[in-house]
Amino acid sequence: MEIIVCKTYQEMSQAAADITARQIDRKANTVLGLATGSTPVGLYQNLVKMNRDGIIDFSGVTTFNLDEYVGLPKEHPCSYHRFMFDNLFDHINIKMENIHLPDGQAPSLENECKAYEQMIAKAGGIDLQLLGVGHNGHIGFNEPGTPFESVTHVVELTQSTIQANSRFFNSPDEVPRRAVSMGIKTIMHARKILFIASGKEKAGIISKALKGPVTTEVPSSVLQLHPDITVVLDEDAASCL
Ligand code: GLP
Repeated sequence: MEIIVCKTYQEMSQAAADITARQIDRKANTVLGLATGSTPVGLYQNLVKMNRDGIIDFSGVTTFNLDEYVGLPKEHPCSYHRFMFDNLFDHINIKMENIHLPDGQAPSLENECKAYEQMIAKAGGIDLQLLGVGHNGHIGFNEPGTPFESVTHVVELTQSTIQANSRFFNSPDEVPRRAVSMGIKTIMHARKILFIASGKEKAGIISKALKGPVTTEVPSSVLQLHPDITVVLDEDAASCL
C-alpha cells in the first residue's frame, strides 16, 4: 500500500488526477471505476481541465460508477447520474456509450445487478477504481456488515448514511432508503485502487480502515488486502495515522 499525504484538499485532488492521467496515458482504453460524494469533486475538476488542455484523452475510456440510489430518476438533481454528468461527463470527450451507472429505476433490480456485473466483465474488468469513504467506513454503498464476497447488490442504507447524505437533499425524509452498489468483491477485483479522503472528520475512519483490523464492520478495511492500492490523503485526513 502506498500512502501519499498532501498538504491541502487541492493538492490531494491534483495528485489523484495525475495518477488517473498516468493510467489513461499508459492504456488509452482504460476502464475506470468512479465514485461520487464531495471528495472527488476537485479531482474531477482537474480531469476536466487536463482534458481541455489536451493532457488527457477520454475518447477510449470506459467508466463504471460504484452506485446509484434506488427510485430516483436519472435527471433528479440528487441522482448520481446527474452528479457525474454535472461534474465530469458533460465536460470531457468521453463517448456516451462508454459511460455506465447502475439503473436505480430498473424494473427488476436483481436483473440490473447481474447485468452490471456482466458488463464490467465484458469490458475486461476495472483497471483503476476510485474510492472515497463514508463516515462509517463504507465504500460504494457497502455498509458495515456487508460480506467481503458480495457482488453488485441492492443495499439498505444505514441511518448514519441517510443522515450524512441528507445534506444534498431538502430533508432526510427525501433520501432514498436503498441503493444499488457494486459489491466488495467487485471493488477488490479492480487491478488498481485509488483511495482518497480529506478533512478532519475522516481522520478516525481512515486510521481504522488503513491500520485497524480487517473486518466487515469497517468495509474499507478490506482494502488492506488489495495488492495494488494508492491512498491519497490531505493532512487532516491523515492526522490519526
Ligand atoms: C456516498 C457514496 C460513497 C462516498 C461517500 C462519502 O455515500 N456512496 O461512494 O465515498 O458518500 O462521500 P463524501 O466524499 O461526500 O464524504
